[in-house]
Amino acid sequence: MKYNFYAGPAILPQEVMKAAAAAIVDFNEMGLSLLEISHRSKPFVAVMDEARSLVKELLDIGNDHEVLFLGGGASTQFSMVPMNLLDENGHAAYIDTGRWASNAIKDAQLFGHVDIIASSKDKNYAYIPKDYDIAPHYTYLHLTSNNTIYGTQFKTFPQTSVPLVCDMSSDIFSRPIDINRFDLIYAGAQKNMGPAGVTLVIVRKSALGKVSRKLGAMLDYNHHIKGESMYNTPPVFNVYVSMLTMRWIKNQGGVTAIQQQNDVKSSVLYSEIVRNSLFYTPVEGEDRSDMNVSFLLHNKDLEPLFLEKCAEAGCVGLNGHRSVGGFRASIYNAMSVEGVKVLTDVMKDFEAKYG
Ligand SMILES: Cc1ncc(COP(=O)(O)O)c(C=O)c1O
Repeated sequence: MKYNFYAGPAILPQEVMKAAAAAIVDFNEMGLSLLEISHRSKPFVAVMDEARSLVKELLDIGNDHEVLFLGGGASTQFSMVPMNLLDENGHAAYIDTGRWASNAIKDAQLFGHVDIIASSKDKNYAYIPKDYDIAPHYTYLHLTSNNTIYGTQFKTFPQTSVPLVCDMSSDIFSRPIDINRFDLIYAGAQKNMGPAGVTLVIVRKSALGKVSRKLGAMLDYNHHIKGESMYNTPPVFNVYVSMLTMRWIKNQGGVTAIQQQNDVKSSVLYSEIVRNSLFYTPVEGEDRSDMNVSFLLHNKDLEPLFLEKCAEAGCVGLNGHRSVGGFRASIYNAMSVEGVKVLTDVMKDFEAKYG
């Protein structure tokens, strides 16, 4: 038994893994694998329908928004969003909170005018910018709700009349969201949803069809809406596993119950980091992510030894991202409170021996 703290691809519930494995051998007692049936067959259409309706149910999404499961990672959305929403002469505002936000900015600059209205680059992205103006003329404001690499998270979203577009790849389904604030949300699957390679897109229908550029069918949200996420062959396995994970979230009591669990996990871990004399976190208090907890040792020389002790206790995937160093514990929805306590016990023992 391992406690999986990888940032992504990341931990999924054990029961989801088991059901997914079984469906590869024999799906719905059909005598066929999920991987070898037509995506147009009734059993798979039912999977896609259930996946889309579970997203709507879990996030309380009404009829103004459409739910899509698209191929390609979240990075595809860095281009697809401005292609579909931003005219060549239009202006979009972006907040630069690190690597993924910067990648989104670079791609958007190919399609229209982009203003970086705030950035936390000055402190290696260890906080969420707060003081900035959002001029009302922007077509949209793009945010990255959770910054996987640095461990920062928007706890609230800016109050503005400008429509919000948000990359929620690493905190989708971790807390309730007010969908009416967003024209578009996208999330790669590989943290809280399923296998890498499928991306959830939630888009307000009335935000589409306003740009003058011509789009290839696969790059046009409207084509995917018309095709009910089946314009081409969808990544069937990824959609199936995502659907199973959403069923699991629903069985846990939905995203409100999941958020309560996530709050417990993150406060157990941050309290230990703050209490323990050997460790610290560079992330500003109010911006600390409930999904990715970034922390360091005051004495860097002890890093390999700490990782060794973690591994002995079954805790894996704790290396920090190379641009931050130290450690990162990703405690996504499927991580148990018990798993976090195993990690904090290792930290306590470490302090007792080396403090
Ligand atoms: C917040 C965020 N956005 C985007 C991405 C890129 O996702 P993908 O690899 O699916 O393109 C990641 C990957 O970790 C991420 O954490």
